[in-house]
Amino acid sequence: MTRQVLLFTALALCHGFNLDTENPVVFRGIARSFGQSVVQLEGSRVVVGAPQEVKTANQTGGLYQCDYSTAACEPIQLQVPPEAVNMSLGLSLAFATNPFRLLACGPTLHQMCQENTYLNGLCFLFGSNLQQPPQRFPRALRECPRQESDIAFLIDGSGSINRDDFQRMKEFVSTVMNQFTKSNTLFSLMQFSNAFRTHFTFKDFKANPNPNLLVTPIRQLDGTTHTATGIRKVV
Ligand SMILES: *[C@@H]1O[C@H](CO)[C@@H](O)[C@H](O)[C@H]1NC(C)=O
Ligand SMILES: *[C@@H]1O[C@H](CO)[C@@H](O)[C@H](O)[C@H]1NC(C)=O
Repeated sequence: MTRQVLLFTALALCHGFNLDTENPVVFRGIARSFGQSVVQLEGSRVVVGAPQEVKTANQTGGLYQCDYSTAACEPIQLQVPPEAVNMSLGLSLAFATNPFRLLACGPTLHQMCQENTYLNGLCFLFGSNLQQPPQRFPRALRECPRQESDIAFLIDGSGSINRDDFQRMKEFVSTVMNQFTKSNTLFSLMQFSNAFRTHFTFKDFKANPNPNLLVTPIRQLDGTTHTATGIRKVV
């Protein structure tokens, strides 16, 4: 029987802003949490998320297309599938050019599967006409897994993580592993910075399922934060 692998990773994000304080254009009061996320498109267009906006009984989150040459915003009409109950649409936004791609994501209601809680997420990928229906990922929200799951941890050991937080991450990993001592779940753990290290594989864990012995000796790598490479390698 196949087993599925869940990937856990903790990421630290940092934002910097440059503000032009001479002639600001202010968009305000449009919806609850409007402005929690924003991306700049080409020209004077920006897309703004309002992930806590209550649209209808079961639909949460909205997207707006704004133009700072006219200081006007209009909602982006979007058919959110009914199974994505109260997803916080627009909690995260990303934009790339050549070709134009706008990705808007949000988590949906969490789902209880026996003793585990699953957080599902849904993303919409728009082309340059934002009023055209976007592609959605994944195509369907997943159901409770029927097979057993193994868990891969990927931890950020770069220099931007301070010593105490790195220690806390290790404690979290041990705590999670200790919760599963009666199950068949296998664990593995990898650490990334600009380097990548496999601390233990599923096989290592199977041979010696002792969280403390496996996790305690892990030392922080330091270095820069190559998150995408880390995720690609662990996958
Ligand atoms: C809202 O979602 C719940 C749970 O999925 C469902 O039972 C209910 O019928 C939905 N209500 C509306 C108005 O769509
Ligand atoms: C979705 O959110 C609305 C408004 O906050 C709430 O009334 C409703 O119960 C929520 N639906 C579910 C299924 O939790």
